[in-house]
Amino acid sequence: MSLKSDSNARVVDQKVTLEMQGSLAVIRIDNPPVNAGSIAVRAGLIDALEQAAGYKASGAILIGEGRSFIAGSDLKEFGLPLTSPQLPDVIRAVELSPFPVVAALHGVALGGGLELALGCDYRLATPAARVGLPEVSLGMVPGAGGTQRLPRLVGLSRAITMICGSQRITAQEALSAGLVDQVVQGDLLEAAIAFLSDAAHPKRLTIELPVPDENREAVESSEQVAGKRGRFRHNVLEAIRLVKASATQPAANALADERATFQSLRVSPDAFALRYLFFAERKAGVIEGVDKSLALPISSVAVIGGGTMGQGIAKALLAAGLDVQLVERDSDARDVAVQSITSSYQGLVRKGRLKDSEASRRLERLRGEVGLDGLGSCELVIEAVFEDMGVKKQLLKELEAVVSDKTILATNTSYLDINEMVADLRRPASVIGLHFFSPADLMKLLEVVRTASTSDTTLATGMALARRLGKQAVVSEVAEGFIGNRIYAAYRGRAELLILDGAMPDQVDSAVRDFGFAMGPFEVSDMSGLDIAWAMRKRKAASRDPAARYVTIPDRLCEMGRLGRKTGKGWYDYSEGTQTPDPLVKALIEEIRADNRIVAQTYDTETIQRQLMAAIVNEAACLLEEGVAQRASDVDVTLANGYGFPRFRGGPLYWASLEESSRLEQDLKALEAAVGHAYRAGPVEQVLGAMKTEAGS
Ligand code: COA
Repeated sequence: MSLKSDSNARVVDQKVTLEMQGSLAVIRIDNPPVNAGSIAVRAGLIDALEQAAGYKASGAILIGEGRSFIAGSDLKEFGLPLTSPQLPDVIRAVELSPFPVVAALHGVALGGGLELALGCDYRLATPAARVGLPEVSLGMVPGAGGTQRLPRLVGLSRAITMICGSQRITAQEALSAGLVDQVVQGDLLEAAIAFLSDAAHPKRLTIELPVPDENREAVESSEQVAGKRGRFRHNVLEAIRLVKASATQPAANALADERATFQSLRVSPDAFALRYLFFAERKAGVIEGVDKSLALPISSVAVIGGGTMGQGIAKALLAAGLDVQLVERDSDARDVAVQSITSSYQGLVRKGRLKDSEASRRLERLRGEVGLDGLGSCELVIEAVFEDMGVKKQLLKELEAVVSDKTILATNTSYLDINEMVADLRRPASVIGLHFFSPADLMKLLEVVRTASTSDTTLATGMALARRLGKQAVVSEVAEGFIGNRIYAAYRGRAELLILDGAMPDQVDSAVRDFGFAMGPFEVSDMSGLDIAWAMRKRKAASRDPAARYVTIPDRLCEMGRLGRKTGKGWYDYSEGTQTPDPLVKALIEEIRADNRIVAQTYDTETIQRQLMAAIVNEAACLLEEGVAQRASDVDVTLANGYGFPRFRGGPLYWASLEESSRLEQDLKALEAAVGHAYRAGPVEQVLGAMKTEAGS
């Protein structure tokens, strides 16, 4: 740390500065873009505290420059041996300082950032600040006292819920929970100076506070909920164990236990995979050669079609503060759509998940419309009408005639060729695909589809909108099923062939769940309805390659009226209220096998899992070869955010990049043999090779 001489004795390090204001030390952290707690920050903080003691400071304030306090420890350092000083060393320096230290929080204080704040004597926060310990969602546990200091402030149950759920709470919630001492309305630094100037705020180590007494059942209940939500992953159970230890173990022992657990978990396969996904998700927002700043401002959007999808999209837009016109073809349909959104908000208010005032604000911004005439002032129109090329083409043409020349038109198709859809338009450069997933207000993924004519401005605007809606955007070129549905079709196709060749639906579903998906492919079909894929198969029947293997079982189920959960029967029987394998389905499968002269093979769980993964990986390689996805990691982001792929495995291509190549080769050979004539081999080796090279660089 070097001394920059001025009258205020300002001491400057690269990432941390110290300024004496009277007898108070103001220590600023300045590590853009988010003040991640890197080695330079840690060393700077220790230096600054020492310097402050040298100046005989009566108190110190830690405050972040830029948009946040500290967004957490630098995740880029977590895969490597950690260099000292480490975060517990910094916290020890705070605790050993002879003066009280206040953490002044704005923006976010997450992970190591919040742990540092917990190690301070007091915490002040701006109303917009958010705090949390997200380490569990990254495959780890907090490692610098978070599991020991948080329960001393908020109690065991709340600490378990917050840590295991990786919750980010508001300043007001943190104040009510006892995590922060004051929410500051005015200037944060001034408030912190005033706070420390008050003699009522002496040195007070959080670690020396007792853990508040709590009802045992309440703790057990939050433990059970947290374990279940976290799928009983090892790190979740460790987090629960460590938080509970705060009430029974001497602090020094529990802190050492926490650090050792963190050190081993931060280099666990889950943690590597989840960190990979963290950076992959951010990279997905970058489009080579497209300048983000071209994005046009959007405040008013029209959604055409008030069905389930249109309503979901409208709700996503309303939640993000946008004005929405929801358009239907007649007043009855319009009223039903608006009423349905109103009822869904009322339901959320009743359950305490939405404030009454917020529900009213959203509804004030919603307008139901009949016809397209009132759309002149919209900056964006999203069509969510029936999935039919003719209908959508006609609608886009009509829209072009009524909207302004600057309006962007988006289609929410999930399969159709958008290049064909825009072929007759006057302004095809202003058209984009926005493929939402149902329920559109809840699902994180949004495929942003670039046609051959989409302009950079239109694309940048689509990406900015996704960000505003809190969605994970992935860019796709036009292709049947884009990225996600195309890969899912290959996966489901392989699952159906497994059934034809010898497995049973419950066996495949259970193997997929064991792999980490929440549901297997047949359970998913039953939930979403077998008729959707059936309709598509019928549409394509004429163009199907007669030499390709075709599994008729789902068609037969549909013909029998077994359309899934909505009819009480599908791949499974739901008539008793639970999902039960049905002997009738087994008999049908055996009959079709016999018709095709197939001798049933026996598959073990691992073979099923590896065959389904091979189908996904091969299809992903095909679409990367075609340039449908920008990069391999975008495929992983798509599957992890929209298709229930287990996040702790990083994504299918990340998973495959860690597999032994000879085993993967065997899997691909078996896949080729099973698929037969229709098989197309993707450049898997090349794709995975490039990923490995990038990971090593
Ligand atoms: N370590 C290293 N880099 C980080 C980081 C961290 N903990 N948190 C964010 N970054 C980087 C991002 O990779 C991104 O880098 P890029 O611009 O090169 O792509 C940049 O900071 C901005 O992050 P981004 O997420 O794009 O910005 P945002 O404004 O949408 O969100 C945060 C900011 C801080 C809310 C978000 O990044 C976040 O949640 N970070 C993770 C926090 C966390 O988990 N901390 C605990 C670690 S144990």
